[in-house]
Amino acid sequence: MKLLVSGTDTEIGKTVVTCSLLRALHARGLTAVGMKPVCAGITAQGTWDDLEHIRSASSVSAALADAAPYRLSAPASPHFAAHEEGVTIQEDVILAALDRLERIAEAVVIEGAGGFRVPLSAQLDSADLAKAMGAPILLVVPMRLGCINHALLTAEAVARRGLALLGWVANAGIDPDYSRTAQTVDTISGRIHAPCVGVLPRLVHAEFGQSGADHLNMDLILRHLRSPVERGNGSHGVTQRRSP
Ligand SMILES: Nc1ncnc2c1ncn2[C@@H]1O[C@H](COP(=O)(O)OP(=O)(O)O)[C@@H](O)[C@H]1O
Ligand SMILES: [Mg+2]
Repeated sequence: MKLLVSGTDTEIGKTVVTCSLLRALHARGLTAVGMKPVCAGITAQGTWDDLEHIRSASSVSAALADAAPYRLSAPASPHFAAHEEGVTIQEDVILAALDRLERIAEAVVIEGAGGFRVPLSAQLDSADLAKAMGAPILLVVPMRLGCINHALLTAEAVARRGLALLGWVANAGIDPDYSRTAQTVDTISGRIHAPCVGVLPRLVHAEFGQSGADHLNMDLILRHLRSPVERGNGSHGVTQRRSP
């Protein structure tokens, strides 16, 4: 089984959710490996933070070239970083790596680059890649001003491509000053065709995923992963509300 962790933006908790899921799957007795098809932003130590966290949360170790086929230096949108290095990100390279990961673990959790429509090359964007990978999507939404619009637009874009939105996670650890998390969860839940599968509070050492795992509804996630999720249904992933 495989799952793609996508987000409404960058720096909103995709790595935290990916690591939390990997640990929660392992706790359920499943072998789980993480994948970050495109990493951008090398550290002074010559590593990539997301990749380090994802690899340490995985219960199965994978070849670097499979866990992260494209490792780019610049901390920029992937198509800029790739272009600057003379690299063209190719879908078939990523799909072959994903295929190998699916053979070594029961669950593959893939962290998308940036938000759902981020360009990867002149021809390819993250949404195209999501479609080619065929993994249901878990959308991470940071609880902050503007997030309702971003969540609904992303759900609409997912449904337009006929992709399955398994659920969404409200991340209340991004903006400590945001005071309307409960109302925001209700507002998004009433308008999106996918369940909220977790509300993450502000966590200590969030990137390691240990504490995040406790806040995910793994029964719901595993039920959806084991049975096909309803695909986009023409209402573009959002509930149409009638005026009274
Ligand atoms: N629930 C949370 N509690 C505390 N810190 C968080 C939480 N979610 C994310 N963070 C922190 O916010 C930053 C961005 O999160 P990250 O998962 O790296 O985002 P993304 O992968 O979407 O770019 C990281 O420093 C991460 O540790
Ligand atoms: Mg990340």
